[in-house]
Amino acid sequence: MSALLQISSLTVRFGGLAAVDDVSFDVEQGGVHGLIGPNGAGKTTCFNLISGLVPRTSGQVLLAGENIEDLTSWQRARRGLARTFQNIRLFPDMSVLEVVMTGMHLRMKAGLPAILARLGAFRSDERAAVTRAMEILDFVGLAQEARRRCGDLPYGDQRRLEIGRALASDPKLLLLDEPAAGMNPSETRDLEALLGRMKQRGLTMLLVEHDMHFVMRLCDQITVLNFGRKIAEGTPTQVRNNPKVVEAYLGAKVAHSLEAGA
Ligand SMILES: Nc1ncnc2c1ncn2[C@@H]1O[C@H](COP(=O)(O)OP(=O)(O)OP(=O)(O)O)[C@@H](O)[C@H]1O
Ligand SMILES: [Mg+2]
Repeated sequence: MSALLQISSLTVRFGGLAAVDDVSFDVEQGGVHGLIGPNGAGKTTCFNLISGLVPRTSGQVLLAGENIEDLTSWQRARRGLARTFQNIRLFPDMSVLEVVMTGMHLRMKAGLPAILARLGAFRSDERAAVTRAMEILDFVGLAQEARRRCGDLPYGDQRRLEIGRALASDPKLLLLDEPAAGMNPSETRDLEALLGRMKQRGLTMLLVEHDMHFVMRLCDQITVLNFGRKIAEGTPTQVRNNPKVVEAYLGAKVAHSLEAGA
C-alpha cells in the first residue's frame, strides 16, 4: 500500500492558539483512516487545512505525491478531494437529484447554472449526468426520493445525501466530518453499511467521528489529536490500548467497553 495523502508538520495558528500544531500522518490508498480526539482538538481545522478552506501557517499536504497546500479549495477538488461538513450544508429547496448534480459539475462541460436551467429539456450529456446521479442515489439508498425537496428528508437521509453529493465529484479521497453525529441507532447502522460499501469500492476515506464503536469497526488506522497535537496513531487496537489516548479522550470505561465489543 502507498500513501494517497501525506500530511507533514502541518500547523495553523489563530492569534496565539495553535489549533493544529506540527501534525504529520499518512492516509494509505484504499484505507479508512480515523482522526479522533476531544472537542476542540483540531480535527475540523485539520480538514479545513487539507481541503483549503483555511490557509496553513506552515507544513505540507501531498495528494497522490503532489503538493497541494498552496492550491485553492476548488483546485484541490479538481484533483480528487471531496468532503462533507460537521453541520449539514444543503439548500433545502433543491430536489434530491439536483443536490447530487451540483456535486457533478466539476466533471461536466456545461457549467452548473446551465445544467440546472435545463433540467427537463436535457441534451445527451445532461441525460448521462442524470443517469449517473440516479446511480449514486441508488448507491446511497435515496433513489426513491430523487424528486423530493431535500429539506423535507429525515435528518439521516440528508446526511447520506451529502455523501452522495461528495461521491458525485468522483473523488480519490473523501473527508467525512462526524457523519454519524445526531443520527439514531438505525441511521448509524445504515451509514456504517454505506461507508463499508464505499470502502469495498476502493474509495480512500479520512473519518472524524466521536462514535468510537463506529470508528473502531471501520478504520484501518487512527490518528489521535489533543490540543492540536498528535498524541498517538496506530491500528484501532493499538489506539484503544494506548494509555495517553485513554487519559486524554476515551476514559477507562469506554476503552473497556470497546475491548468487550471488539
Ligand atoms: N477560524 C478560527 N479562528 C479562531 N479559532 C479557531 C478557528 N477555527 C477553529 N478555532 C479553534 O481551534 C480549535 C480547534 O477547533 P476544531 O473545530 O478544529 O476542533 P474539533 O476537533 O473539530 O472539535 P469538535 O469535536 O468539537 O468538532 C478550537 O479551540 C477552536 O475554537
Ligand atoms: Mg469538529
